[in-house]
Amino acid sequence: PRVAVIVVAAGSGTRLGVGAPKAFVGIDAHTILRHALRSVFEAPEAQVIVVAPSDRTGDAETEVREAAGSRRDLVSVVAGGATRQESVAAGLAAVWADVEVVLVHDAARALTPPEVFARVIDAVSQGSDAVIPVLPVVDTLKRVDADAVVEPVDRSVLAAAQTPQGFRRAILDGAYLDAAADHTDDAALLQAAGTVVRTVPGDERAFKITTPADLERARALVAPVPT
Ligand code: C5P
Repeated sequence: PRVAVIVVAAGSGTRLGVGAPKAFVGIDAHTILRHALRSVFEAPEAQVIVVAPSDRTGDAETEVREAAGSRRDLVSVVAGGATRQESVAAGLAAVWADVEVVLVHDAARALTPPEVFARVIDAVSQGSDAVIPVLPVVDTLKRVDADAVVEPVDRSVLAAAQTPQGFRRAILDGAYLDAAADHTDDAALLQAAGTVVRTVPGDERAFKITTPADLERARALVAPVPT
C-alpha cells in the first residue's frame, strides 16, 4: 500500500496505575490495543506496524492475529523504546519501501473513529506535508507559576492535538534522522525542523486514555446500551 500506520503501544501506563503496560489493559473483553487496531483495520487499507513493549511483542502478535482479519499480511510487530519518540523511530524503520504517507497513532486513543484516519490520509494525499487532527480547547486556561496565576491565556488561538498524525514519508524520515530533543508528538518534531503543519477536525472519541477516569470514560462508551 501507499500508506502505513505506526501504532505506538510501548508505553508503561504509569499514570493509569494498573501495574501493566497500558495497551494490554482491558476496556471490556478487549484490550486498549485491540480496540485501537479495530479502528485501524476499518480505516483505508494500509501497512500496519504495532510498536509494543519489548517483553510483550508476543502478546501484541496475538492481538494482531485476532483483529487483522484479511489484512493479516499487512501487519508487523516491532519492539519499542524508552520514549514515545524512540518507539516511533522503531516503527519507521519497518515501513515498506513503496509507502509514501505515514500515520503515527497512539494505541491509547483506542476509540478513535476510522473517519479520522481517512481525513488525515486525504489531507496528506492532497499535498500537505504534515497533518494533525485537533479539537477546540473548551477549558478556561491560565498561565501559572507554582500556585500563582500569572495571566489568562486566550483559548481561541489554541487547539488540542490528537492522533493519527499524518506525514509525507520522506519528511518524517528526514526529521527522525536529525532528531535531537525529545518531543511529545511528531508534529512538534517536524515543526522544529521547519515543516508547515496543517489541521483537520479531530473527534471527541479520539481522547487519550491516560488516567483511571479516562479508562472509566472508555468503558462507558463501549458498554452495551441497557435494554
Ligand atoms: O504516555 P502517553 O499516553 O502520552 O503515550 C502516548 C502513546 O505513546 C501511547 O499509546 C504509548 O503506548 C506510546 N508510547 C510508546 N513508547 C514509549 C512511551 C509511549 O509507544 N516509550
